[in-house]
Amino acid sequence: MSLLIKGGTIVTHEETFKADILCKDNKIVEIGDIGEQPKDVEIIDATGKLIMPGGIDPHTHMQLPFMGTVAKDDFASGTAAALAGGTTTIIDFVIPNPQQSLLDAYHQWRDWAKKAHSNYSFHVAITWWDDTVAEEMNILVKDHGVNSFKHFMAYKNAIMATDDILVASFTKCLELGAIPTVHAENGELVYHLQNKLMAEGMTGPEAHPLSRPSSVEGEAANRAISIANTLGAPIYLVHVSTEEAVDAIRYAKDHGQTVFGEVLAGHLTVDESVYQNPDWATAAAHVMSPPFRPKHHQDALWKGVQAGTLQTTATDHCAFCAEQKAMGKDNFTQIPNGTAGVEERMMVLWEKGVNQGKITMNEFVALTSTNTAKIFNIYPSKGCIRVGADADLVIWNPAATKTISAKTHHSKIEHSIFEGMEIHGVPETTVCNGKLAWHNNTLMVKSGEGKYVDRPTYAPFYEALRKRQELNKPVAVKR
Ligand code: URP
Ligand code: ZN
Ligand code: ZN
Ligand code: ZN
Repeated sequence: MSLLIKGGTIVTHEETFKADILCKDNKIVEIGDIGEQPKDVEIIDATGKLIMPGGIDPHTHMQLPFMGTVAKDDFASGTAAALAGGTTTIIDFVIPNPQQSLLDAYHQWRDWAKKAHSNYSFHVAITWWDDTVAEEMNILVKDHGVNSFKHFMAYKNAIMATDDILVASFTKCLELGAIPTVHAENGELVYHLQNKLMAEGMTGPEAHPLSRPSSVEGEAANRAISIANTLGAPIYLVHVSTEEAVDAIRYAKDHGQTVFGEVLAGHLTVDESVYQNPDWATAAAHVMSPPFRPKHHQDALWKGVQAGTLQTTATDHCAFCAEQKAMGKDNFTQIPNGTAGVEERMMVLWEKGVNQGKITMNEFVALTSTNTAKIFNIYPSKGCIRVGADADLVIWNPAATKTISAKTHHSKIEHSIFEGMEIHGVPETTVCNGKLAWHNNTLMVKSGEGKYVDRPTYAPFYEALRKRQELNKPVAVKR
């Protein structure tokens, strides 16, 4: 199966140039001025269009069992939405229950993901600790292509990782050559504030942001970064939403620490006024953690993106429908946390970033694909356009327009946090594994065609980190 994309402009994280691309099987095999081809080659005319690496969303939760229910978008609908929005790979999260075997949970998620239309990979969450967890981390890294482990510093009495777990797990990550990632919110403070607000009769979704003020994220971000620094481990902060967390990352980077920051399309563009909506269901539809923030945080996030303090963009796609959100009708702490966006991420970043002059097209590619591929060690198979790379591409029509709406999106939920946003420049065709996956407004691949993406450890980088540690090794005083 060959696919020839002719006449387009290739945009990578570092260059922009006109060239044709020939894909064979699931690889890019030729880039340049490509002439006559045998009959069995499918030709796509990309004149006037941009060809970029397929998006990689490093943070999704398809069919996540969470807060007493299960997220509506499963691996079939969620990855269909991804492809419709130009994203060809998602990195989802295996979240074992405390005391559950990591491997059992991992295999459970792998089984669910057999329905995927797009490519997918997994971070695995560390929600408890003992020697068997350490041993299973070994196996996941060595035999299952997992190179990142997630730690929820929030969600007390559920999946929260306390400091003892962070210390043990970050140490193990460094030993294995895997990267620890954190959801940085102080779970004790959230729990305290939730109870206080409920006792004061604040039971509606407007209480949600009050229970998770920016200082709660700032404290946890600083703590996680300090723990990683003390241990000599790298660290990746998911869904950074506050100025405090951006400052913490920048400070650590300035002091030589290896810290990465991810930002959500939602946090960049939606502000906390949504929780004041007089319609309960609309306000509840926006309940996610960390919450949407006052506007000055958005400015700090954009500056963090521009300065390179934040390197990746994600969605935290965790879709709950109105009926599920209504579980918290009398108690905002029971509203399932999560919003959707895997389909809209690239369009939103194009409109609010590129079109508004906040980022260049090349930075757009870095933020939506390349940086994630590099950090999670799937570059240059993914995240770039070069001969030998995987043929995961998006063909972008900068002249086309679209209005985002839940009426037309592929997510199963009836709400979009980006409802009504006008987009100038849309992903028209998505190529996944060398095949047309989204074309002419139609999903072209079947459920199950997505491939699991193995992510090896980044051995030389971790070797350097361990050497740095050696340099600081204490020496016992001879007496
Ligand atoms: O509200 C959210 N973000 N739900 C999904 C779980 C998480 O914290 O990422
Ligand atoms: Zn196994
Ligand atoms: Zn989170
Ligand atoms: Zn999440």
